Amino acid sequence: RGPEARPGDLAGRHVVVSAGGTREPLDPVRYLGNRSSGRQGYALARTAAARGARVTLVAAHTELPDPAGVDVVHIGTAGQLREAVLKAAADADAVVMAAAVADFRPAVYATGKIKKKDGEEPEPITLVRNPDILAEISADRAHSGQLVVGFAAETDEVLANGRAKLARKGCDLLVVNEVGEHKTFGAAENEAVILAADGTETPVPFGPKEVLADKVWDLVSARFGEARS
Ligand code: CTP
Ligand code: CA
Repeated sequence: RGPEARPGDLAGRHVVVSAGGTREPLDPVRYLGNRSSGRQGYALARTAAARGARVTLVAAHTELPDPAGVDVVHIGTAGQLREAVLKAAADADAVVMAAAVADFRPAVYATGKIKKKDGEEPEPITLVRNPDILAEISADRAHSGQLVVGFAAETDEVLANGRAKLARKGCDLLVVNEVGEHKTFGAAENEAVILAADGTETPVPFGPKEVLADKVWDLVSARFGEARS
């Protein structure tokens, strides 16, 4: 089945997608960040809109234009992403966490620029944990039948780590991809295995991020069919 085989199957649904990479400020001019481009999340938002869904895209520091017909909420930090996603998730049928959320943030934010001092070594940066948004939403779904999807990039023991992460997070689907060599951040293509809580595994061969996005919506859409009450 190609993407054109499922027009409108998400009509009447509200889906929330997070995309990009959060930045955790250290002072007014510096931050801790990551290399997420946001392309996979934007592909998820575009394909869901094309299939008829109302889409809220919570975007963290991407350089991509807002997709047409999608509600885009631009945020910066993991804390802001959590707030925006939880708010949009309240009436959502599905939440897809494609964003790279910073696991840690600086314990202290310096309100003035941190200056170097002659002859002094720099102060170490102390980090604290950020909340796990995916685990929180999975544990505390806004309503029954709400579907929760996570993403994971792994370098080793990809499937074993993915299975363990799916169980730990408590989500319905986890899209696992191996990072390395040609599968660099920012690429237009991706290869993944979609792990489901029911034990099924759906391999998606190397190809455009839209194809992977459509595969995710296929699995979500099929589960909506089962959960309809
Ligand atoms: N995630 C989240 N909140 C966090 C960290 C991650 O919601 N504070 C989500 C990501 O958006 C992604 C999924 O959790 O959908 C997996 O992210 P990943 O970084 O692979 O998982 P972690 O639990 O942070 O594990 P690791 O130690 O491997 O980074
Ligand atoms: Ca992480």
